Amino acid sequence: MTELWQRLAAHRAATEARPITALFDADPQRGRRCAVAADGLWFDWSKTAIDAPALGLLLALASGVAARREAMFSGAQINETEGRAALHVALRALDGPIMVDGRDVLAGVHAALERMRGFARAVRAGRIAGQGGRYTDVVNIGIGGSDLGPAMAALALAPWADGPRLHFLSNVDGADATDTLRGLDPKTTLVIVASKTFTTVETMTNADTVRRWMAASVARPERQFAAVSTAPARTADFGIDPQAVFGFEDWVGGRFSVWGPVGLSLMLGIGPERFDEFLAGGRAMDAHFRAAPLAENLAVMLALVGIWHHQICGYPTRAVLPYAQRLRRLPAYLQQLEMESNGKGVTMDGQALARPSGPIVWGEPGTNGQHAFFQLLHQGSAVVPCEFIVAARGEEPALDHHQRLLIANCLAQSGALLRGRDLPEARAIVAAMGLSGPEAERQAAHRVFPGNRPSTTLLIPALTPFTLGQLIALYEHRVFVEGAILGINSFDQWGVELGKELAGEVLPLLEGEGGGGGEGQGQGGGGDPSTRALVAELRRMRGEGA
Ligand code: F6P
Repeated sequence: MTELWQRLAAHRAATEARPITALFDADPQRGRRCAVAADGLWFDWSKTAIDAPALGLLLALASGVAARREAMFSGAQINETEGRAALHVALRALDGPIMVDGRDVLAGVHAALERMRGFARAVRAGRIAGQGGRYTDVVNIGIGGSDLGPAMAALALAPWADGPRLHFLSNVDGADATDTLRGLDPKTTLVIVASKTFTTVETMTNADTVRRWMAASVARPERQFAAVSTAPARTADFGIDPQAVFGFEDWVGGRFSVWGPVGLSLMLGIGPERFDEFLAGGRAMDAHFRAAPLAENLAVMLALVGIWHHQICGYPTRAVLPYAQRLRRLPAYLQQLEMESNGKGVTMDGQALARPSGPIVWGEPGTNGQHAFFQLLHQGSAVVPCEFIVAARGEEPALDHHQRLLIANCLAQSGALLRGRDLPEARAIVAAMGLSGPEAERQAAHRVFPGNRPSTTLLIPALTPFTLGQLIALYEHRVFVEGAILGINSFDQWGVELGKELAGEVLPLLEGEGGGGGEGQGQGGGGDPSTRALVAELRRMRGEGA
């Protein structure tokens, strides 16, 4: 492995000065050749500096992935630090057996899905109703993986929404509860408390607030509550009827959980049939990931391009740019999926990671981003590999001219990033404007684009429940491949713990306990000196004294 990394680094050093356009000059077929097609999707990586030797070395890096992939699909405990399988693929599987600890888990998965379908059908038909009649609205209370998946998918699949209106309440900021509940009728609102652990402070605080809001108008608010959790004792303590509790197993990681009970809100919104199509998309991607040779494997190629850009070229971030307004929460979803999975400092065996961990992922939909941060993508000093996603067809046939414009913009941006504009071209532009002399030189300099900025483009036929399933499963597997190559555990998240613990220490300080927040005190008594100074100032601003 070390030798492969060294050879890749040496190859990069030897070829760095060669522009990507030279690869197209040498191979006019590169646009078609450097692409992977699978089940209607098309992933183009031709606008990167990866040439044949680099590809060979990258594929060699991935040679150990197959064994780990099979370990995942067969239910082995690949989440070693938590002693669990990572079996989100079982949530969308049809055929088993899939064995965990000597037990086939598939029957349980299918039974849970069937219960969700029954509940969703009954709610959508009004057979299960609120104390004021048929449910008009559903509020999903959850955070992180218990929010981002269904929230992202509900936006993405808005054209298929034919059930109660969906709302997502996640932030402990009271503004979120206030704004989410504004205009809702407590008598016709169904609340789903989604929390794997049922201890997450934001979710439990919001659940309590919403219950009190409902209790002001409804005699038995808990009757309008459902829960999604792996902790039935805690949902019972909260007072939620076990009939309305949808359990799942601890081998489903939060950020991989949209496919099962955490997707209940989505199923209520789009119906069980469309939800099944979403699962079918994920399943199709699983089959592709398992069977396709490495070089023709979408997830493997996405991961290898990512490895090339982040690990070999040293670009610290990656922009995800869906040219699809309904995918506007996809970057946030991917931030959790990728950064919580691969933002790790040690390898599986606890050794310090010798390489950078996974990249910073960020983004916004196009074309909006073009009028915001694309300036930096084109002319800033940092090179940001861009991942464009665009659908061939929109869901608005009457507005197909919008879709054509959207696609044209997407392709134009990746083209501009690649090609750039050199100084002679810029000079010609300013000359045509009638400028000359030093002012022309000054103005021309501002119009130079360095170009040679890498990007990939993922084409989907249309954004549907099925293709969304393909897309999300594709990104899950990409994360898996990157994690496997780096030798890290992509399925734990110890890095979120410290902040949670410290919040527990800061709250008493804010409430005037633990020494009154005096700045001069040392590290003891809760809070470092900077935190204690901030607490003192906040207490002053809140009119609560020092
Ligand atoms: O704090 C991080 C995290 O544990 C995520 O991994 C998870 O998706 C989120 O919190 C919510 O957790 P839960 O579903 O247990 O409320």
